[in-house]
Amino acid sequence: MRIAMTRKIPAVAQDILQSIGDVDVWPEQMPPSPDKLLELTDGCDGILSTLNDRIDGAFLDQVPSVKVVSNFAVGYDNINVDDCTARGVAVCITPDVLTDTTADFAFALLLAAARRVSESHQSIPRGEWKTWEPLGYLGQDVHGSTLGIVGMGRIGVAMAKRAAGFNMPVIYSDMYRNEKAEQELGVKHVDFDEVLTRSDFISVHVPLTPETRQLFGAAEFEKMKESAVLINTSRGPVVDTNALVDALNSGKIWGAGLDVTDPEPLPADHPLLENEKAVVCPHIASASETTRSRMAQLAAENVKAVLTGETPPRCLNPEVLSRG
Ligand code: DGY
Repeated sequence: MRIAMTRKIPAVAQDILQSIGDVDVWPEQMPPSPDKLLELTDGCDGILSTLNDRIDGAFLDQVPSVKVVSNFAVGYDNINVDDCTARGVAVCITPDVLTDTTADFAFALLLAAARRVSESHQSIPRGEWKTWEPLGYLGQDVHGSTLGIVGMGRIGVAMAKRAAGFNMPVIYSDMYRNEKAEQELGVKHVDFDEVLTRSDFISVHVPLTPETRQLFGAAEFEKMKESAVLINTSRGPVVDTNALVDALNSGKIWGAGLDVTDPEPLPADHPLLENEKAVVCPHIASASETTRSRMAQLAAENVKAVLTGETPPRCLNPEVLSRG
């Protein structure tokens, strides 16, 4: 058995995978190019991938030995699941283990953007803290403000739980009603437009699909309150970046807290970074020591289960497993 790991991830993954075969790990900081990915995975049985690897039919046709692709992420927009299913390749992901850590970070971005944490901190080394300022760094109150959640899945629910501690009424839009969350947390299902017009903060928790690509553009920012703050910890392309820059610069919305951007990585001279009301982080919402280890363990257990004929803990297309 041979397994390719496309990045270095916490050691627990390699320990698990070495118990069933040989493991080749891409050693560099930058992810492998498509050509190098093919070299790395040539002849392997399983791939432990990351969100940087494009896995589709054209790729899989060149590595027909692959039986499982296990993504070190809950998101899987880098993988064409239909192409995998058509070729009998199991696709696995790492949900649940990162839910709370990601929601913690979404809430951290919300607080940081609302209360101008990063911007005011950065003023100190510039020597701008001369006195206590009655009018300095006035932000938006978080407590008691309305939070709009777009996508009431696992992370959306975890975000709503955090909002409860700040006495924030929560409204949400989703193609599916989450009645459990409505009953247990008192969140209210509304249509997307109502989230846009009523929310003081909007936090996005949807997967990237053709339907959610550029869900937030000029028309949506136009509908939002001028005091509103957009939080995105899902995928960058859910937001039209140029429209967001315009909305921030023209005061159509007040601020943004972004863990994901389009493009990613964001170039150091990108106009988004020039607007101080945008708090931008380099896609680190799940990056706690414990959570990344749990993700590594789950990703490796997924590979091991598929390759040893067991049921993987988190498989997106279990129908391929019964095909033998
Ligand atoms: C995911 O899991 O999809 C995140 O973006 C990385 O943790």
